[in-house]
Parts: sequence; C-alpha cells; structure tokens
Amino acid sequence: MDYLQANAEYWSQAVYDTPNPETYAFRLYGRVIKHQFGLDGSSHPNLLDFGCGAGGNCKFFADRGFNVHGVDQSKVDISRIKERIPNLSSNFKCISPICNADDIWFPGIKFKIIVSFQTLYYLSDTDLKKRLISLNNMLEPGGYFIATMMHISSWYFDMSTPSSDGLHFVKFHRDQDKNRPGLSINDHFINFTDSEADLIDKFSIFTPLHTKGYYDGIYRDDQGSEKHLIFVGQKKKS
Ligand SMILES: C[S@@+](CC[C@H](N)C(=O)[O-])C[C@H]1O[C@@H](n2cnc3c(N)ncnc32)[C@H](O)[C@@H]1O
Repeated sequence: MDYLQANAEYWSQAVYDTPNPETYAFRLYGRVIKHQFGLDGSSHPNLLDFGCGAGGNCKFFADRGFNVHGVDQSKVDISRIKERIPNLSSNFKCISPICNADDIWFPGIKFKIIVSFQTLYYLSDTDLKKRLISLNNMLEPGGYFIATMMHISSWYFDMSTPSSDGLHFVKFHRDQDKNRPGLSINDHFINFTDSEADLIDKFSIFTPLHTKGYYDGIYRDDQGSEKHLIFVGQKKKS
C-alpha cells in the first residue's frame, strides 16, 4: 500500500475529534500572529489551515474574526468542521492527499496567513516540496506561514523504522489506545525533523522568522515525549 493511502486510512478513522484549540494555536496567536504580525482578526484576514482536522483551531481563529478556510483529506473531519463553524461551512473542503505543486482549492483567494499544525510530517520529502510550492502560491505577497513538525525525540520516533523519501514507518501501539472504539489501524508514516537546521531546510521556500520554538507534552507515565518544532516564516519577495 502506498504511504499516502496508509496515512489517509489512519486519519479517516475519525477517532480524534478536536473541538477545542490546542495550546500551540492560541500561544502562537497571542505571541506572534497578533502582537508581531498585527493580525488580531478584526480586519478579517484570510487564513488557511492545511490539515485542519475537525476544526478546534479553525473555530478559535474564526471566533476572533479571521476569514478562516480549511482543507483536510478526512471527509468525516470536514463534515464535523462544517457543523462546528456553520457560518463558514463553504470555506472547508475535503481534498485529495495527493500533492500537486499547482493545487488551488479556493480560486481567486490569496491568504494573509497559512497555518499547518501537526500535518506536514505526513508527507514524504518529495510530496512536502510540492505541497509547500502550492501553499506558497496561495499566500499573498508578504504573507505568513506557520507549521509544526514532529521531532525525533518524540516517542513515535522510537516506535519507527526508516522507510524511504524521508519517511519513517511508525508501528504505533499505545496502551492508551487499547479498546478505543473505532481505532483499528494504528500504523502510519511520518517524516520527522531532527534539528532546527533541518526545519529551516525543509521550509526553505519561506524566509525564516522564528525557528527555535517547540512544544512538548507527557500526560501519562506510559507515554513519552511528543515534541514538535515550530517554524514561523514569510513569503519571500519575488
Ligand atoms: C494530527 S492531525 C492535526 C489536525 C489539526 N491540524 C490539529 O492540530 O489539531 C493531522 C491531520 O492531517 C490530515 N492529513 C494527513 N495527511 C494529509 C494529506 N496528505 N493531505 C491533507 N491532509 C492530510 C489528517 O487527515 C489529519 O486531520
């Protein structure tokens, strides 16, 4: 089975609903998007969330006035987000997991900011390059780009073996998932980052603004780190 199909099947099981924003979303809003970029949402800037999932983060930005758009390959997550943000329901689209450099999901719209939380590491090196070209094309001149990538110190890395094109195959079985309804597929592919230098290299299509950020969390004794590095960048002047 091709890696994109494996990841799509893993994420289409719909076990992870996300009704609330995660801390990284509101901290990045408070510390960077609002206070550094001057975007508190009141001017209704266009924001795209790539890999929006079930929409907790999109709802957070929509509640602050952003003209939020979101795409995800999971049909069930897109149906959840449409219910969660009914006034913007036409702004959310289920897309193919296949990456084309010329993909455009919202013709005629350029985004002031594109966010992609915990999603771009489900792409191989080759597909990530194509996806970033497409996202860069969707940004308006001087637009901002924020992404988070899973770090090799994460316990997911310990459960993985190298595959091809930057990917690791994650044989992922956690005690916390035992008997979890609806979760029958657990194995998937991740493109980990190992350093700030690698993060800057992966996102070299953008001018880097903040590259030292990260977040982490452990909630059970039988878990390990879930460290993610944060990349904040800006569209390069052409
Ligand atoms: C860990 S979840 C993150 C969801 C949300 N951004 C958040 O932070 O809560 C990863 C999301 O990426 C989506 N995804 C994975 N591969 C994708 C692809 N190739 N194209 C579009 N979406 C993808 C999954 O369907 C899933 O909703």
